[in-house]
Amino acid sequence: MASETKNSQPFLTDIKTLRERARSNLQTGAVTFTYQGDVQKTIAILQSVLATEIVCVLRYTMHAVAAAGISSEGVKAEFSQHAKEEAQHAQQVAERINQLGGKPDFNPTGLATRAASEYGNAGNLVDMIKENLIAERIAVDHYRELIRYFGNEDPGTRTLMESILTVEEEHANDMHDLLVAHEGRPMLPG
Ligand SMILES: [Fe+2]
Ligand SMILES: [Fe+2]
Repeated sequence: MASETKNSQPFLTDIKTLRERARSNLQTGAVTFTYQGDVQKTIAILQSVLATEIVCVLRYTMHAVAAAGISSEGVKAEFSQHAKEEAQHAQQVAERINQLGGKPDFNPTGLATRAASEYGNAGNLVDMIKENLIAERIAVDHYRELIRYFGNEDPGTRTLMESILTVEEEHANDMHDLLVAHEGRPMLPG
């Protein structure tokens, strides 16, 4: 009677098994056997992040154009730089949605309600800076929560959100510094 020697189960999946799984799961793209997150939920969350970033692009772009008054040039340049970085975030998040098998939602209909941040209606330079600071703080809080949510279930999405969070923290800091420069002190409501 042939007895089959059973290999002890390795802690890490062996390369052969990994390759076989990767081949058999080609149609699912980046979502492989070891993905532990809820893919549909991740895609839904990222659609809201995408909307948040698009609203930030629109707001900063409008501010960069509309900002006026004494010493507005430096502020306009800052708004313009932030608009570019928010556009990069939107692109990165859209790529991730695509990797996970979703279709990134760029539809302008309902954009504002999908987003965590607001477009705003500031009429002067200082109000613009305040609106941006508030929007950045909302993004920072929101993204920190998401990073905790993704944890070890989805390290790819978590790492992406961590890299975006770092930039949002810099943005919040930039807006805070501008507010102090223009008002002498931070003047956030509440
Ligand atoms: Fe952003
Ligand atoms: Fe930002």
